[in-house]
Amino acid sequence: MNGDAWTLRYEGLDPAEVGLREALCAVGNGYFVTRAAAPEASADGIHYPGTYLAGCYHRASSTVHGRTVVNEDLVNGPNWLPLTFRAAGERGRDGGEDEGPWFGEPGFAVLDQRLEFDLRHAVLTRRRRCRDGAGRTTDVIQRVFAHMGRPHLGVLVTQLTPVDWSGTVEIRSGLEGRVVNDGVARYRGLTSRHLFPAGQGAKGEVIRLQVATEDSGLQIGLAARTRLRSGDSALHPDAVDLLDVAGRVDRVFTVAVRQGRTLTLEKTVALFTSRDGRAAEPAASASELVADVEDTAVLERQHRLHWQELWRRCRVGADFEGAGTVHLYILHLLQTFSANSVDLDVGLPARGLHGEAYRGHVFWDELFILPYFHRHLPELSRAVLRYRYRRLDRARRNAAAAGRRGAMFPWQSGSDGGEETQELHLNPRSGRWLPDRSRLQHHVGSAVAYNVWLYHRVTGDQQFLSHAGAEVVLEVARFWADAAEYDEALGRYRIRGVVGPDEYHDGYPWSSRPGLDDNAYTNVMASWTLHTARELLAELPAYRRAELLERLGVDGAELAGWDRIAHRLHVPFHDGVISQFDGYERLEELDWAALRARHGDIRRLDRILEAEGDSVNRYRASKQADVLMLWYLFTPAEVRRLLTGLGYRVDLDLMERTVDYYLARTSHGSTLSAVVHAWVLARRDRRASWRFFREAVAADVHDIQGGTTAEGVHLGAMAGVVDLLERCYSGLSLRRDALVLDPVLPPQLGQLDLTLHYHGHGDVLVRLAHRHASITVPPGTAPPIHVVIRGTEATLRAGEVVRVDLPGG
Ligand code: BGC
Repeated sequence: MNGDAWTLRYEGLDPAEVGLREALCAVGNGYFVTRAAAPEASADGIHYPGTYLAGCYHRASSTVHGRTVVNEDLVNGPNWLPLTFRAAGERGRDGGEDEGPWFGEPGFAVLDQRLEFDLRHAVLTRRRRCRDGAGRTTDVIQRVFAHMGRPHLGVLVTQLTPVDWSGTVEIRSGLEGRVVNDGVARYRGLTSRHLFPAGQGAKGEVIRLQVATEDSGLQIGLAARTRLRSGDSALHPDAVDLLDVAGRVDRVFTVAVRQGRTLTLEKTVALFTSRDGRAAEPAASASELVADVEDTAVLERQHRLHWQELWRRCRVGADFEGAGTVHLYILHLLQTFSANSVDLDVGLPARGLHGEAYRGHVFWDELFILPYFHRHLPELSRAVLRYRYRRLDRARRNAAAAGRRGAMFPWQSGSDGGEETQELHLNPRSGRWLPDRSRLQHHVGSAVAYNVWLYHRVTGDQQFLSHAGAEVVLEVARFWADAAEYDEALGRYRIRGVVGPDEYHDGYPWSSRPGLDDNAYTNVMASWTLHTARELLAELPAYRRAELLERLGVDGAELAGWDRIAHRLHVPFHDGVISQFDGYERLEELDWAALRARHGDIRRLDRILEAEGDSVNRYRASKQADVLMLWYLFTPAEVRRLLTGLGYRVDLDLMERTVDYYLARTSHGSTLSAVVHAWVLARRDRRASWRFFREAVAADVHDIQGGTTAEGVHLGAMAGVVDLLERCYSGLSLRRDALVLDPVLPPQLGQLDLTLHYHGHGDVLVRLAHRHASITVPPGTAPPIHVVIRGTEATLRAGEVVRVDLPGG
């Protein structure tokens, strides 16, 4: 990352990098995120303006290969940034034309550019020098932010300084509603238009625009106020006009400018949607808000204060050369989901609200994200878990439709919790549309259960457990119990026809039946869920336990069945390691070296092989960590307990052998893979762990999956990086009875500073260095906490500090 630890900086113009910069410099506040497209730009193959409002999905049907498919997309909302200018009414120095192109149009050159994203305050500054066809040079500085404290507001402040000319300038400041979802090349064969003009106009200083889906199910309304200033005084333009075509509205100002004197344009925009639950139509709410909102300097001050507050709670201070990237990733987590998201009933989209990849859907990635929220902003975790809870009934119906009991959470979730995984996907390498069986990743249900359990363990939030969490876990447990079939010959229960986290394998090469049998990760997680359901039930107050069991109709016989299954699920083994699924050993070895020699980057093995007429299903080759996920979610001792609980004899080297085995057979086609590998290697091969950690750090800033970041950031990997620092290398465990640290700081990491939320203390400071560790509890009224640092125990009251030397360094 260029810049210091608090600034992401890009110098110069590089058309190939525009998309990446737009995603990485996007501004957002959990209500909406706006890509960092240049305000004068439209979608032209290089730039891609995008504003995505949390939870604003729309379902549309498309025809692919004569088949009708329905997809639900996160809708690209109206672009609120448009702002451009041109000189008018005076001749340029070289006697050129009076009225040339607008800034952004061909013939108006941008000479240089510097982008600076202030990560402390989430304010993006873009500086450019430009020259029009008549040779007039103008400096343009623009600041943009999405107000963190007032989620409906976006602000763009533009400063224009004529460098070598004086004259008259025309300025156009507008709202663009003629937008489509066109950000992902491989979706271009599908319906892309979701929004249509639904009203617009102007009143006084304010312009407004409303768009809606064809069925009006979703409406988005915007209003903008643009004010002009010269120095500290308001400037009254010579003329103000309105440009008004269906779906687009602009204010046009004409004003005199003088060489060297800066003209400031303050554009404040409000965004509302029909999801906000207000009586007025969204554009009316927006107009009302911007009409008399404070000026942009006041709004920016408020916004900055909110971020200062956030960073106090959320900062992870890591002393290494990627520290700035860690700040950037935390910022994007908080821009995607914040206190502003809590009441919106939205989930955590895997690719943020930064682009259209994966259609803004929610996968299992919150498994990688929530641990960070649990520690810093548990109210956000709770909101994400409630998004799932509110869709529990839908998950029950999903299960029923599949002939199962309990709850089956969808692999891809959008607005209502139905299964949103596409039925066909395009392999861009071969141009073929292929059946998509990834919806068989039922392990997502265990991830939801795990998130409930970890949230409860870290926060002790008994109320959530009692009123929502336990019910979710029980229903997922019930689903697994029903999915498990007893195999007489084996004397064990089996779960057939699923896909594990390694979604490259979606069936056996010798069978046309979709899915695999006994994915080890799925089965162990099913066993864990069944055990955990019992454990959580036991922790509920008796009256609540009785109510839940009665309401769900779970009786003693059913619970006894769960116990039986939890202890007798099948986990396949071969060659002394856990098999990824039953029959794995029958697959062929892949010639990795030959494939690498032929293709270089082979992360997307599935696409490469399919394009060659082959199938990845034939090989021992994984997209990402699958079996190894077990050691990501659990300690080695816990994995051993789970396996011995299932009746398997586990020697101490099983983990080592299994890690080595799959490490040699994984292409890392998902950014999540590096996170998990860094984690499982942290305590046995520190160098390799650091290599994977660095790869996870690079994932988005260096776009290592080849162009995917421009389509949306990878929130799971972003959070995974932070979590590796906070939980893995520190050996941090926030147990109910103690805050435990067992650090293994990689040599490349200097000091690590963590600020945690623990047992009612907001800012517990953990400082880890190679030779010592300390914990400081802030003054306050919360009860004392118990801490254990590499075996040394202490009880700390509010305002106390403990420091422990770490022998061996
Ligand atoms: C990964 C999934 C992940 C999804 C969304 C896929 O490439 O294989 O594990 O949930 O991306 O991030």
